[in-house]
Amino acid sequence: MWANLEGVFNMDQATFIKTYATNRLNTNSLKWDALGVRYGNPDLLPMWVADMEFKVPEQVTTALTERVAHGIYGYSFTPDSYYDAFINWEQQRHQLTLQKDWVRFGTGVVNSLYAIVNAYTQPGDAVMILTPVYYPFFDAIQDNHRQLVTSELINDDGHYTMDFADIEAKIKANEVRLFIQCSPHNPVGRIWTAEEETKILALCEQYGVLVVSDEIHQDIEIDPENHPFISALTVADGRFQDQVIVVNSPSKTFNVACLLNSHVIIPNADLRATYDAFMQRYNQTEVNVLGQTAGQAAYEHGGAWLDQILAVIRDNYHYLQTEFSEKTSKIVVADLQGTYLIWLDLRAYLDPATTREFIQDKCGLAVDFGEWFSKNDQGFVRLNLATDPKYVHQAVQNIISCLAQLNK
Ligand SMILES: Cc1ncc(COP(=O)(O)O)c(C=O)c1O
Repeated sequence: MWANLEGVFNMDQATFIKTYATNRLNTNSLKWDALGVRYGNPDLLPMWVADMEFKVPEQVTTALTERVAHGIYGYSFTPDSYYDAFINWEQQRHQLTLQKDWVRFGTGVVNSLYAIVNAYTQPGDAVMILTPVYYPFFDAIQDNHRQLVTSELINDDGHYTMDFADIEAKIKANEVRLFIQCSPHNPVGRIWTAEEETKILALCEQYGVLVVSDEIHQDIEIDPENHPFISALTVADGRFQDQVIVVNSPSKTFNVACLLNSHVIIPNADLRATYDAFMQRYNQTEVNVLGQTAGQAAYEHGGAWLDQILAVIRDNYHYLQTEFSEKTSKIVVADLQGTYLIWLDLRAYLDPATTREFIQDKCGLAVDFGEWFSKNDQGFVRLNLATDPKYVHQAVQNIISCLAQLNK
């Protein structure tokens, strides 16, 4: 599939990991160097924050190095070559046909979610999310004084589905104006099927609800044969494009989050005009030249690197699944279809109120805790699998041995 791209790797996995896995201590890494501040213990093994311990594709480093060597970083615009690389990526990987004039740029997906909430709703308007979900979704709604409406996903032994009856009842009862979807869904790992997407988008259409689909994890497909990612813009041959805005970014796919370059994709001309008018009043920044240099190189040359990363993530996931099912079979491991974030239910072993103490003080791990994603989810933890397998092995073994100690 990627034979037309330069830089195809022939590395075996061990060589790939050796070449790309990197020590991040003392680099002002939020994940590694802020543990003391965030968790009160600098010595924890960090399995939180959704970024990777792997260096970016070599061509990205080369493109950045060349751009930096120029020595001038004045105001820039987005070249056609960036649009071409991005649009080509979406077409090849996701059969998503984009037009250049649909695309706007942001300095991060969360930032764009805040802008979208403000551009399309008024204070007091109802905005819906499906919980548990990435916690800045709550913030984007509540920091802007909108009414938070949540519908809980149905959890069937770690496989999560949407509760359509509850969603419809809540849309009606609260006159929901905006629905923020996470697709693939962080933290439960679902890639929504075409049927699920058609159903939720049709419901939103029926009740005049605008949809913003956060597709930042679009490229992290664990089993694409059986669970391919489907953009909200391609569902039902694009039938819902007039009511959908997609936000995405190269940041998760290529580990470039802090280069602050993301996309807001708005096919509908009226919605675009509303967005542009809002941004004209509140946001006058130019694009990030290094972010776009990296993004273009990544979309042009990073496919083979991504395929190697996906193989590492899959192996990490299978290791964790196998170890837990053999040694601590009552941990419920979510059905990971998309994202590199694994959602674990520890409630069969722990009083949920003791989860934090157990994970931090006994296991020595820094994780994202369930209650950050939903007030009902104490007892769950989220671990990042886009890392050197040695860290995943250590985290898994720590949990297994500390659970064994608990039961003595
Ligand atoms: C669903 C989702 N949206 C957005 C983000 C963050 O995006 P950004 O860093 O571009 O604001 C994350 C990071 O984990 C995420 O999981």
